[in-house]
Amino acid sequence: MSIDQKPWGGRFNEDTDAFVELFTASIKFDHRLYKHDIRCSIAHAKMLSSVGIISDSDRSSIVSGLEQINKEIDDGVIEWDLKLEDIHMNIESKLINKIGEAGKKLHTARSRNDQIATDIRLYLRDEIDEILGLMRELIEALLIQAKDNCDTIMPGYTHLQAAQPITFGHHLLAWVEMLLRDHERLINCRKRVNVMPLGSAALAGTTFNIDRKMVAEELGFQAIGENSLDSVSDRDFIIEFCSTASLTMMHFSRWSEELVLWTSQQFNFVDLPDRFSTGSSIMPQKKNPDVPELIRGKTGRVYGHLLSLLTLMKSQPLAYNKDNQEDKEPLFDCIDTLRNVLIALNGLIPAIEPKKENMRKAANAGYLTATDLADYLVRKDLPFRDAHEIVGKIVAYAIEKNSALDEISLDELKNFSPAIEQSVFEILSIDGSVATRDHFGGTSPGQVKAAIDRINERLARVTVD
Ligand code: ARG
Repeated sequence: MSIDQKPWGGRFNEDTDAFVELFTASIKFDHRLYKHDIRCSIAHAKMLSSVGIISDSDRSSIVSGLEQINKEIDDGVIEWDLKLEDIHMNIESKLINKIGEAGKKLHTARSRNDQIATDIRLYLRDEIDEILGLMRELIEALLIQAKDNCDTIMPGYTHLQAAQPITFGHHLLAWVEMLLRDHERLINCRKRVNVMPLGSAALAGTTFNIDRKMVAEELGFQAIGENSLDSVSDRDFIIEFCSTASLTMMHFSRWSEELVLWTSQQFNFVDLPDRFSTGSSIMPQKKNPDVPELIRGKTGRVYGHLLSLLTLMKSQPLAYNKDNQEDKEPLFDCIDTLRNVLIALNGLIPAIEPKKENMRKAANAGYLTATDLADYLVRKDLPFRDAHEIVGKIVAYAIEKNSALDEISLDELKNFSPAIEQSVFEILSIDGSVATRDHFGGTSPGQVKAAIDRINERLARVTVD
């Protein structure tokens, strides 16, 4: 393509260097925005005719031309031209080829700078809506598992050392709380995405009497960018999205780590379905938890994108700079990664089969009700520190005898504290232990059920706008 065929070729005297063409083009990745670019152009054309900048007949050929192009791209019959740099100029040039003179009027009162900023916001808003839907599906899947397991007892851990008995339902609701915050953060981020830059033109606005309100309504934007310089250059909404995505991935990496541990022979707490696992090419006995491992691994790339975007924007003077073209690939990959991970988890979570007997056995080993015994002594009027000391000695005795706490006889226990009575055996059992943690936010089966009800009420109140 010679320089005089380029939409901006007028002031140039020589053709663009072939490598520079390759280096500066974004069509390789921004073609993904075609639908939103076309939507944005249709809204712009309608506005241009409504305020009398272009004629109604020009508007209708532009709109039908763009609709045809949209269909051709859908059908895969369009070829992108690297020499036309980006999605905006590719579509505009196809429009001019198709409808002639009227097509040349579309770019009145706008610039690629406000166009790209608008396209990404429209695109990201749609992607956020899809991700919010997937997150909600996952929350619901976890709630079903939590309900089914509100009285399944397992060890709870601190320092990855078995600490106190908990219910598996309670553990899953901890995951739900993380995800509910992520969901809320994303809804919040969407508000700042849903602001329209179009009308800011290159940086300083336009000399035409445009109707920005009309375009914003047509495109469903909640607000209009207040400052043209900021509107064309701001990408903090992308950084904000990647930062909420990073937090979500951080949470998923924690769940994944637990799933990997729980499927190990050492824990043996859950079974993942064969369709979500893979084998080893050398060790015939292996069944590997690849899906959670990969989710854990993919967290790194999302963090990486967040950091590259922060660095991309650092020190950029106002207003638009070509640097901003580098926002797309990290954003797209963040979106793809998060979406795929959510799809994987939506398949995996409902299919997790807890091995209840193994969990129970693990909760029964390791003196997990020692704190309950200390609390018991406090209720018998001992100061907590003394109670802690006495129970420490009982545990040491039990370890020496190689027996569980509830296998030590009442007479033996009385040697450590005369305050201990027959009633102690109720609290030494793991069922007694979880049943008595019966307060708001606690692990008892009743509290898990109540928490599920509260979460459902919270979900019913969530609105996205
Ligand atoms: N491809 C560009 C981007 O992604 C579009 C805006 C280009 N504007 C310009 N003045 N070169 O940022």
